[in-house]
Amino acid sequence: MDNDFLFSLDSVRKSYWTNEVITNGGFWVRPGRVTTLLGSNGSGKTTLIKVALGLLNTTSGLVQFKGQRYLRPKLPQLAEDGLFYLPQEGLFDPHTTVRHHFGWLTKRFPEASTEGVFDEMRISPDMLDRPPSKLSGGERRRCEIAFALARRPDCLVADEPFLGVMPADVEIVIQAFRRLAASGVGILLSGHEVEHLFPASDEIVWVTARTTHHIGTTEEALKHQQFVREYLGPGRAEGLG
Ligand SMILES: Nc1ncnc2c1ncn2[C@@H]1O[C@H](COP(=O)(O)OP(=O)(O)OP(=O)(O)O)[C@@H](O)[C@H]1O
Ligand SMILES: [Mg+2]
Repeated sequence: MDNDFLFSLDSVRKSYWTNEVITNGGFWVRPGRVTTLLGSNGSGKTTLIKVALGLLNTTSGLVQFKGQRYLRPKLPQLAEDGLFYLPQEGLFDPHTTVRHHFGWLTKRFPEASTEGVFDEMRISPDMLDRPPSKLSGGERRRCEIAFALARRPDCLVADEPFLGVMPADVEIVIQAFRRLAASGVGILLSGHEVEHLFPASDEIVWVTARTTHHIGTTEEALKHQQFVREYLGPGRAEGLG
């Protein structure tokens, strides 16, 4: 394993009962780089993320975060060490105001700060005073990404961050990820919105056929014939180049 990986998962095998989802897979995240997991529905992206964060158990696999190796990682410890996880299914208690969530965050983590993040993610005071159950899906996602930025993490893991984000706000989210990466944060993303994920990403990991392929930079991914044929579709690749 390379020492310049901020966060990595190696040699994972994961089954749900008799259904083997990953035979041998993993990923790595470098400081200042955005790595994105792409693959069809049910290929195992969320499974890999949850195994790496200790939210799913496996019989094999090795996690490394900031040079520390874990056979059994635990999210509270990774979070304490500077990892932030934005799950596919959302983050907030639906009935507690957004403002209250931010209040908790800044008390809990001394390095957390809301300075600039509400403006960056276009979050109004009125949105802050509502509970997430009274926000639209896209507004909630923007608040969650603002929450991730306010945490000031060293590593951000966001599963399907573009889910429900309307086109006008997509650019804000892409820029937020690029700004974080430029400040040295290592980022892991997943999703299907390749038209948004490609400009946000540096490296692509293809999750397919129960394994993972590190297919390189976004430019290299667009030249990877099998990936283009089987996942992107040839028409799609031209639009992303
Ligand atoms: N708790 C579970 N019990 C049984 N099978 C599961 C469970 N969670 C996921 N699976 C199965 O494991 C496979 C991988 O699921 P996973 O959620 O990791 O896929 P994904 O790549 O994240 O998909 P999507 O793009 O739809 O989010 C799927 O076939 C899914 O049905
Ligand atoms: Mg998923």
